[in-house]
Amino acid sequence: MRSLREILSDAQNRGVAVGHFNVSDLTMLQAVPAAARELSVPVLVGASEGERAFLGTRQIAALVRALREQYDCEISLNADHTHSLAKAEEAVIAGFDSVVFDLSALPFEANAQQTKQAVEALKSRNPSLLVEGEIGDIGSGSEIHDRAPELARGLTTPEEARQFVEFTRVDVLAPAVGNMHGMLASMVGGSARKRLDIDRIRQIKAATGSFLTLHGASGTDSMDLCRAIGAGINIIHINTELRVTWRRALEDSLSAQAREVVPYKILPQVVESLKQVVRARLELFNQPQSAAPSELAS
Ligand code: G3H
Ligand code: ZN
Repeated sequence: MRSLREILSDAQNRGVAVGHFNVSDLTMLQAVPAAARELSVPVLVGASEGERAFLGTRQIAALVRALREQYDCEISLNADHTHSLAKAEEAVIAGFDSVVFDLSALPFEANAQQTKQAVEALKSRNPSLLVEGEIGDIGSGSEIHDRAPELARGLTTPEEARQFVEFTRVDVLAPAVGNMHGMLASMVGGSARKRLDIDRIRQIKAATGSFLTLHGASGTDSMDLCRAIGAGINIIHINTELRVTWRRALEDSLSAQAREVVPYKILPQVVESLKQVVRARLELFNQPQSAAPSELAS
């Protein structure tokens, strides 16, 4: 399998993005690679600190390794939203391909200083590891929010993005460009959509030349996602859409088989529903966009 850096460079040259899907359990961990295999595209499996605490950091890494070996598919593994060096090192030792070192809640200088130290420490353990840093405010919680969060630290400016990437030497930057973690109820129903600041993405790409991740993509307008890829986004994170699907599909399957107690008879419907959502997102992210991202390459 190619390295994650090679996968991202190739995707960038082709004007497509790599889909990143968070997993909390085995139904998700089955559905994500299954959808990617059907489409023959690379995929990123993500596990945040909370998801790793539940599934087990070493256990997820072992399962992903086994899936790669058995199916000969390009599944990369990302330690998503990691807030301490200790947790990041734990993931790197377990064999994760990338780490999102997220100190975006700190003031800019402290975030930059500690992220720089983390990049050095983590790469000394694994030089081919990709480290992502995050600036700006996109809220937290891949769940259904009652009201829009107040994003006090605001959108990322091209200049602070340039300074942050130059100083920390992160491989990937996660900016705030209109994106937001989680979904409002109106987004789950489909009557509202997140909208992105495409010009800002283009300017941040030009200022940094680095790979860019769009977090909080659940419920985002599909055309905006395509334009964002054309403007320089390389990785797109989806979590809440899967969680909503997981719950609905589980409820449906349980009520369709009210007396069933065998998990492997109840859960395949959940895997299938999740797979359809992942597949639809991967199809969108893998439609080549016309803006020539190779001109923007890092
Ligand atoms: O890191 C995970 C994501 O950014 C997912 O955000 O729950 O809005 O899809 P989301
Ligand atoms: Zn995120």
